[in-house]
Amino acid sequence: MVEVIVALDLPTATDALRLADRLPGLRWAKLGPMLFLEGGPGLVRQLKARGIRIFLDFKWHDIPSTVAGAVGAASRLGIDLATVHVLGGEEMRQAAVAAKDGMRLAGVSVLTSHTPESYGKAVGAAKQDLAAEVGRLTRLGVQAGLDAIVTSPLEVARVRAIAGPDRWIVVPGIRVGGSAPGDQQRTADPGQAVAGGATHLVVGRPILQAAEPAAVYQGICEAVA
Ligand code: C5P
Repeated sequence: MVEVIVALDLPTATDALRLADRLPGLRWAKLGPMLFLEGGPGLVRQLKARGIRIFLDFKWHDIPSTVAGAVGAASRLGIDLATVHVLGGEEMRQAAVAAKDGMRLAGVSVLTSHTPESYGKAVGAAKQDLAAEVGRLTRLGVQAGLDAIVTSPLEVARVRAIAGPDRWIVVPGIRVGGSAPGDQQRTADPGQAVAGGATHLVVGRPILQAAEPAAVYQGICEAVA
């Protein structure tokens, strides 16, 4: 079953809970730094009390001991899925996996906001073929024992071929019915992501900015069922 994760990129816990209560059958919510800094662990507990699983998306990229400490704290809080940047290095990845306990850990490959030009500038080397780079990072994540890989819809099939049949593939950059890309560069619709092998779709603005968020959420759930 493909899961739809709603990115609660909203400023306050009140906003987040109001939206969660408007989305019938919501199973997964994503909390980023903006909302978590306002709502804190209390918001996580309130969402979990509604039966909603929590994807904590801080995309850690720090020294191994700091990342391990954060991963352990997230796991103890009851977070279901958290993210580290694969680019954080082998020692960091290993420390993160060793600290995760029962929590699942996803490795971010190349951000969906990157183009080949912007990524090349960031890493200081020309990277015209972002799909190849995503494949390279996927291999590193798999070697470290990460449970999931985060990638754009355009590289899902390549990740699936490398990651094997069981690993989760978490895919943001989902757009429906002509919704605006915003700062996302590598987008596709839910059907394309699922056809490539995605297990979890992350959807923020197409739902948050819709006149009828529940209708858009249900439409996406039906499209991937
Ligand atoms: O609003 P939109 O649907 O573009 O939101 C996508 C969400 O997925 C955002 O919360 C963003 O932080 C997250 N994300 C992403 N690209 C990644 C990893 C996570 O867009 N590579």
